[in-house]
Amino acid sequence: MADAATRKRAAELRDEIEHHRYRYYILDDPEVSDAEFDRLVRELQRLEATHPELDHPDSPTKSVGAPPDPAFTAVEHRRRMLSLDNAFDTSELDAWFDRVEKGLDDSEPSYACELKVDGVAISLAYVDGWLERAVTRGDGRTGEDITAGARTIDPIPGVLNLDRPPALLEVRGEVFLPVSAFEEMNAAREALGEERFANPRNATSGTLRQKDPRITAQRPLSMVCHGMGAIEGLEVASHAEFLSFLAAAGLPVAPETRTGLDRGRVREYIRYWQAHRHDPDYEIDGVVVKVESHAHQRQLGATSSAPRWAIAYKYPPEEKETRLLDVRVNIGRTGAANPYAVLEPVFVGGSTVTYATLHNQDQVRLKDVRPGDVVMVRKAGDVIPQVIGAVTAKRPPEVWRAGPWRFPDTCPFCGSPIERLEGEAASYCTNLDCPNRRLEALDHFASRGALDIEGLGYETAKLLLDLGMVEQFADIFYLDRDALLALQGWGQKKTDNLLAAIEAAKGQPLERLLFALGIPHVGGTVARLLARHFGTLNAVRAATQEEIAAIDGVGPVIAQAVRQFFDNPRTAQQVDRLVAAGVRTDTGATSGRWSVEPVLEGWTVVLTGSLSRFTRDEAKQAVEDRAGKVTASVSGNTSVVVAGDNPGSKTDKAKELGVPVVDEEGFVELLRTGELSD
Ligand code: IVH
Repeated sequence: MADAATRKRAAELRDEIEHHRYRYYILDDPEVSDAEFDRLVRELQRLEATHPELDHPDSPTKSVGAPPDPAFTAVEHRRRMLSLDNAFDTSELDAWFDRVEKGLDDSEPSYACELKVDGVAISLAYVDGWLERAVTRGDGRTGEDITAGARTIDPIPGVLNLDRPPALLEVRGEVFLPVSAFEEMNAAREALGEERFANPRNATSGTLRQKDPRITAQRPLSMVCHGMGAIEGLEVASHAEFLSFLAAAGLPVAPETRTGLDRGRVREYIRYWQAHRHDPDYEIDGVVVKVESHAHQRQLGATSSAPRWAIAYKYPPEEKETRLLDVRVNIGRTGAANPYAVLEPVFVGGSTVTYATLHNQDQVRLKDVRPGDVVMVRKAGDVIPQVIGAVTAKRPPEVWRAGPWRFPDTCPFCGSPIERLEGEAASYCTNLDCPNRRLEALDHFASRGALDIEGLGYETAKLLLDLGMVEQFADIFYLDRDALLALQGWGQKKTDNLLAAIEAAKGQPLERLLFALGIPHVGGTVARLLARHFGTLNAVRAATQEEIAAIDGVGPVIAQAVRQFFDNPRTAQQVDRLVAAGVRTDTGATSGRWSVEPVLEGWTVVLTGSLSRFTRDEAKQAVEDRAGKVTASVSGNTSVVVAGDNPGSKTDKAKELGVPVVDEEGFVELLRTGELSD
């Protein structure tokens, strides 16, 4: 018989091998060399050969790494996934306690309290200790198979860490995105011109429903387990026992859970976490109270939708008072005048809030918030902070005397009249040359989701506008090198880098160009629809309003905005200058799928180590954009290995096989020219 240490090692090896197979076959992003992987497999094979009781038909030593199909299929739950009834205050909680205690012979049952994680419910099925399937809740009876994505979630083990796993263990839990990761992800999405996720829950569910597990893997989802589904070959008498069993098996359980509580302790737990609800790195919307003994749970049973032995105590969305320091108006790139609140910084809903949009002038009038007021600020599940209204009881006399805040009739940046359009809630600065509008427009033009001009951020845009070197965005393509060199702090390198980035931006496909123009209502998605439908800039310019409005997903308001933009002689002239500068005016679809020259056609590139100017995905994309292929491991077919910092064993292998190795500079050169520099 294998001793405990050997069994443990075998379990570790199985888990590690599963993990690396997944990284290799599905994610195409291995973490270890082929040699290291083979070493792990051989070690497990040796253990299985000397201890046949450790052998298993599902062992990774038995199968070759065929990638599972990541498409979703409907799966019936072995046991229904129920929902929970809610209590919104202590009297509703007390009523639940009374019902529970009446339903049991026991007048003082023991309760468990858990945080109610605001995530996405899933069910994991382990058969003989192996993760067979991960399924979303769906309608409670049938959910979607998301096994491929779930395998990329770090705390979900592929194999349970148990010597004698039960024949079947179905465990329910909540998948969530840590708040910190959510904020980073949204910042990145914004920079790419993509829409922000409204809250971590939406981000989690969007991520889980990704068909491509590589995308799931890039987002650091996590999980806590809190419930039991169908089980075979396992006896547990209480919730507390079940949770200890899960923890021992290597499944994630929440450290905040408390068991063995009476009514009074339950109330304390609820009060404590209401005051500390933002301490954990995940969003919670309440506390779940459960009767602990499984015998009690059976006795109480369930209604058609929820167990009688558990209840969710829901917290109200958090609201705080703070001082409204000022109401200001920003002029956006479309000229829209957007009022916003400047607040005395206040910590609410998990982060510090200093600014909050007030949307438009009607909203400010309705709320009657005035500078100097004490206001209520709320940040609910969605992360966008809201000013709910003024606490008029606390309004200082001088603020009463000042009267309602008045929307300015002139632009705070250029003094031109602000006008409200018929039928629209928004007002606009009437000056097309408004300096703030130009700044916002130029900043947008160069942003990552638009023409992606590296080195042309907000500050540089402001500098070039302030100095009059640029007036409109098209001027960017006519910058004078000597004038740039004359600027303080602008050496040759900085200047040439910017000019090279501007030159490269001319090759961006039509959808990027259309988005960059800053046409009202034309975001990334609409720009893509227009580009795909019309194919060329000329075709978009020639289209009638009706033709544009007929595109699925566009509609009359957008169509009118597009027409007005191209009919306006000033904006039309800007577009002419862009075309004269040589920007690409098609999607690239007719000349191939590449928005840049396919200089790497026939190349097979291996990336290793970290690069400073590219993430792994960006580097891969850059190669693929040029018709090249990226593979995970070095072989005789590899054309080149790109070695960043801490490259690992792939460079050794390359040297062994005589495959050229380049550093980041060499890679950039390769992308530009399709040739290896010497
Ligand atoms: S127990 C049979 N415990 O809240 C009862 N649920 O609003 C199963 N949830 O569907 C639920 N944290 O997805 C339980 N600690 C926790 C939870 C929790 C979050 C979710 C769960 C449930 C939903 C009901």
